Amino acid sequence: VRTIGVLTSGGDAPGMNAAIRAVVRTALGQGIRVRGIRRGYQGLLDEEIIDLSARDVSDTIQRGGTILQTARCEEMRTPEGQQKAAAICKKYGIDGLVVIGGDGSFAGAQKLSNLGVNTVGVPGTIDLDIACTDYTIGFDTAVNTAMEAIDKVRDTSTSHQRCSVIEVMGRDAGYIALWCGIANGAEKILMPEEHNYDEEKIIADILESKERGKKNYIIINAEGVGDSINMAQRIEEATGTETRATILGHMQRGGSPSCKDRVYASIMGSLAAKLLIEGKTNRVIGYQHGEYQDFDINEALSLKKEIPEYQYEIAQELAI
Ligand code: F6P
Repeated sequence: VRTIGVLTSGGDAPGMNAAIRAVVRTALGQGIRVRGIRRGYQGLLDEEIIDLSARDVSDTIQRGGTILQTARCEEMRTPEGQQKAAAICKKYGIDGLVVIGGDGSFAGAQKLSNLGVNTVGVPGTIDLDIACTDYTIGFDTAVNTAMEAIDKVRDTSTSHQRCSVIEVMGRDAGYIALWCGIANGAEKILMPEEHNYDEEKIIADILESKERGKKNYIIINAEGVGDSINMAQRIEEATGTETRATILGHMQRGGSPSCKDRVYASIMGSLAAKLLIEGKTNRVIGYQHGEYQDFDINEALSLKKEIPEYQYEIAQELAI
């Protein structure tokens, strides 16, 4: 490998800059040229490609978002788009590519690998929903941001003896909801993985919890379940308890990365560059059982991640 490209794809996540910086500096340190691709696969198809020096990534490790910017790219899902992307990599001499993103981004990397561009994926998403890894870049920062915001909502909710429905990110995954549910001591956690939540039971529980002397009632609702504003209205009508909905939204994706995100992203970015330099392709970095590992992308994409049921049960046991 003589030139490594790096791109960030899908939803941005705090810590992506630390990963980019690590790819750039690891490769340059070994005499490999590095090209940054702006706006993910879309920028690759539009040939938004720049050279990156060690100084270009100075002063970025502490910054949220991604300095390369990102995009969700439909064209990259088509065989034509994939062939065009591979041809552009060849045109720019990019024979190795680090893709920082989620499962959708890895599917693109796998296709490029089949078309002769060596690829390594680095898991970057606040959702934690990548099966081959216990850690994804951005989750730690996002879940801490959400936790702090929920603490603030709780202050006012308790003062007014209200019920609060607080919506956190996660269209397809409930990890942010689960972690906040535990960390914020929520009474209920609603996740997209458990579609059929029982609103009647929640209402009965709110009424009963009042009798047990609870001053407020926090429901953490994942974006994938949604409907928070209507849900709050229905709960207020059925229980007579004032109920407010708060949708935390994209603030959860921003902000300076936590120490954990900076460190793990730096190590994963560096390992990804090293795999490419060793001539490996079609790999994805993961962190499992206390170790950094790498997996075949096909294998990684075939795995399904399940919410650990016992953790959800513990959250419920603690909410009495
Ligand atoms: O994948 C990260 C994520 O923040 C999800 O939690 C959320 O459902 C989605 O991205 C939102 O995407 P967008 O910013 O494109 O609306």
